Amino acid sequence: MNSIDLSTTIGSLKLKNPVLLASGTVGYGNEIAQLTDISKLGGIVTKSLSLKPRNGNPPQRIVETPSGMLNAIGLANVGVEEFVKEKIPFLKELDTAIICNIAASSIEEYVECVKILTCIETINAFEINVSCPNVKEGGLIFGNDLSSVARITEQVRAVTNKPIIIKLSPNVPNISEFASVVKNEGGDAVSAINTLVGSSFDIYTRKPKIKNITGGLSGPAIKPIAIAKVLEIKRNVDIPIIGIGGIMNWKDAAEFMIVGASAVQVGTANFINPNTGNEIVDGLIEFCDRQRIQKLTELIGSYKI
Ligand SMILES: Cc1cc2nc3c(=O)[nH]c(=O)nc-3n(C[C@H](O)[C@H](O)[C@H](O)COP(=O)(O)O)c2cc1C
Repeated sequence: MNSIDLSTTIGSLKLKNPVLLASGTVGYGNEIAQLTDISKLGGIVTKSLSLKPRNGNPPQRIVETPSGMLNAIGLANVGVEEFVKEKIPFLKELDTAIICNIAASSIEEYVECVKILTCIETINAFEINVSCPNVKEGGLIFGNDLSSVARITEQVRAVTNKPIIIKLSPNVPNISEFASVVKNEGGDAVSAINTLVGSSFDIYTRKPKIKNITGGLSGPAIKPIAIAKVLEIKRNVDIPIIGIGGIMNWKDAAEFMIVGASAVQVGTANFINPNTGNEIVDGLIEFCDRQRIQKLTELIGSYKI
């Protein structure tokens, strides 16, 4: 059983296995480390970091929905300076890949964050969260605009040699065009998908259940959408894909790999069972063993249509 090769690559980023924990669902790794063995994972993606600390949105920020959850955290985070001082020392000790997720409200801010962090050895790659409002352009979401995604990729590429993963928004009709722009501007990979816009109201108070009115929908409810988006990218653009959206168990992870994902991220499931990532690793090993698969990467894009 142990001879099965689980390793995978995302551009120049080598992972011991394809199971990563998704941004925003495991903080900076320190809390979940008390509940699961992080070293068994392929890596963790840290909470979106902005240049300055952010308090995020007022509560209520999270609500459960059928087969999923809505969140409007508002990118609360400690900011780059405190991240370097307080969080990197812990992350440094972990025997797993550390992907640092960046959020910003201007292109210059994305560039500045990456510029500051690129010299930190502990960070193995950057994931750029483009599902953020561009304050200079009236709050237009960067990730819904092709030229913004192109400019962010190009300008971030210019300040780092580390792998750059652009995390794509599913709230567009043509996700593969966004993946194509990322490839053309020098991005190493895309991750898909971020959350979908959703809302939920209380019928008695007639008020939104989350203060921000809309939030990001995640969990099993979005998995079929995420599978379709990953497949669309795989069929149209030659770029490594990290599949995300409603992954709850090893079967979900295998499904994402079959439609084209080179690695996967587990998000909402961590709130139900923080050990999900490790259980997925075990499940994939058993699956490969039963299916006589020697290298897990054989699964990538092996769909039959
Ligand atoms: C509470 C919560 C906070 C999140 N925060 C971030 C974030 O800061 N940056 C980011 O890129 N994605 C964030 N996400 C999105 C997840 O990383 C992931 O893309 C999404 O939840 C879909 O995966 P899932 O269905 O497995 O949760 C957040 C998701 C949740 C549920």
